[in-house]
Amino acid sequence: MKKLVAGNWKMNGSLAANAALLDALRVHLTKPVACDVALCVPAPYLAQVQALVQGSGMVLGAQDVSAYESGAYTGEFSAAMLQDFGVRYAIVGHSERRQFHQETDALVAIKAQRALAAGITPIVCVGETLAEREAGLTFEVVKRQLAAVVHLNGHCISEIVLAYEPVWAIGTGKTASPQEAQAVHLVLRQQLQAASERADRVRIVYGGSMNAANAASLLAEHDIDGGLIGGASLKAPDFLAIVQAAQ
Ligand code: 13P
Repeated sequence: MKKLVAGNWKMNGSLAANAALLDALRVHLTKPVACDVALCVPAPYLAQVQALVQGSGMVLGAQDVSAYESGAYTGEFSAAMLQDFGVRYAIVGHSERRQFHQETDALVAIKAQRALAAGITPIVCVGETLAEREAGLTFEVVKRQLAAVVHLNGHCISEIVLAYEPVWAIGTGKTASPQEAQAVHLVLRQQLQAASERADRVRIVYGGSMNAANAASLLAEHDIDGGLIGGASLKAPDFLAIVQAAQ
């Protein structure tokens, strides 16, 4: 299956920095690229990056989407608005949103549903904290998080991308070993298989301190179908090396 490498810029960037980064990426990521490449950018820069990825092998992504369709929800942006900018992927349920914005499993499931209804692929994030891992709760936590999304989106669950992002590996420089990550991906795959005949085509990507040095070994695992890249997606050479490893 074609791998997906998605950069999550988080709350980083500026008009000038984005233009410089895109300049460097575009030189190498002209069509055709043998894996899918997405840039999930801060909402204010959607228009800028939409223009800059045009004609390249990269597509546009967002970092969130509202659970509401439209209306009096100050600060939110809807799936239809993302559609207006040609957004192809929207991250939902990132651990930073679960942690700092109190997003629940149920809310994340609705966000995934909104994205799907607009023809945008949700990148649904699941992952355990360090305390949960140490308590032996890893599988239980990620299965609970995925179950909510399956419950609400059952019929079209094969249209999502799933991201396993252990919270303890995000921005810490600590990466799950390929074997640790694969073990969780396999559990997630089996859960998807129980829900859908088409589970084998769902891409399950890994995120958490993935970088130029460790990408190839992670991506070599059977059920690791790509990466969701934070810090390393802000540096063109590092991001390009990960894309290279995914091809
Ligand atoms: P880092 O790659 O910076 O650890 O971030 C991972 C992540 O949260 C991607 O969504």
